[in-house]
Amino acid sequence: MAAKKAAKKSAKKTARKKAAPKIKDPVFETVKIERSKGITFLIMNRPEKRNAMSPQLHMDMNDAIDYLSIDPATDVLVVTGAGKAFSAGQDIKLYFRGTADDPAARAKARRASNAWRWQKLSRFPKPTIAMINGFCFGGAFTQVCACDFAIASSTATFGLSEVNWGIIPGGIVSWNVGQVMNYRNAIYYATTGEPFNGKRAMEIGMVNKAVPAGKLKAEVMKLARLMQQKSPAAVRYTKEAIRSVRFMNEPEAADYLNAKSDALKHVDKEDSRGQGMSQFLDEKSYRPGLGHFERRNKG
Ligand code: COA
Repeated sequence: MAAKKAAKKSAKKTARKKAAPKIKDPVFETVKIERSKGITFLIMNRPEKRNAMSPQLHMDMNDAIDYLSIDPATDVLVVTGAGKAFSAGQDIKLYFRGTADDPAARAKARRASNAWRWQKLSRFPKPTIAMINGFCFGGAFTQVCACDFAIASSTATFGLSEVNWGIIPGGIVSWNVGQVMNYRNAIYYATTGEPFNGKRAMEIGMVNKAVPAGKLKAEVMKLARLMQQKSPAAVRYTKEAIRSVRFMNEPEAADYLNAKSDALKHVDKEDSRGQGMSQFLDEKSYRPGLGHFERRNKG
């Protein structure tokens, strides 16, 4: 009986393995990709340097995000760091000192740095979660702000540490924190350089949630799995709408949102609106106020 059960279990396992062939992702020098059933982890991988961002890391991140942004096997992207840091910010040796006498190299590194941390990440077509597992300083605030969600270990250490070594929160860090923090906190943390923990980051709106370190990955997975159940087209258009209307006046926003709503009906291969409406009005199988419709018509 036990042998039969074991054989059945192993046959199931084999079938599952066959159904999901292992994806051969590109290999990068300073970045790694890990996967778990549609959730893709994009990991800054210089743990011995606390994932400080070197010019090479910026190049690798650009290539990795370009690759993942059109990857059909990625439903949700999680950005995190290897080891005990999320990222210690720009690599002071390789990014700042290393390019000080080479304006072309500095310009290239700066462009690459802003491209992945802000332009590409904030426009990533799938939901993005910053999983802040440890040290998060300076330039690393930009990728936290670019992600749709941020969940931190309550003991992670954040800091706008630039002032501590005599520079300003450059790149676009000052612009980023001006959006997620209120003015008082942005000025306070940027001018004092005072470190703060994940719990405080949640209180000031820098992250959505702070959880004990041991529960961090589970909490991120819970959110990622929830996002997998929502209409991908509706989620994508929603985040694009929220991001874009911030800088519009009311008539522009109204026009933009009308056009966006019309466009969604055409791009949504799952007909989420139709499914959602009929499951509520005809089947009465769910209540939109309390939860989402069931995706039966995945594109
Ligand atoms: N740039 C360059 N190198 C960095 C770095 C950074 N931002 N952050 C860490 N490192 C390097 C250290 O120089 C050290 O290298 P070494 O082993 O060759 O000496 C290694 O990473 C480990 O750092 P260390 O300071 O020994 O680790 P720690 O765990 O005691 O402290 C930090 C970690 C993050 C608190 C500390 O490294 C730090 O303050 N880093 C700078 C953070 C910062 O201000 N970033 C903003 C840049 S704008």
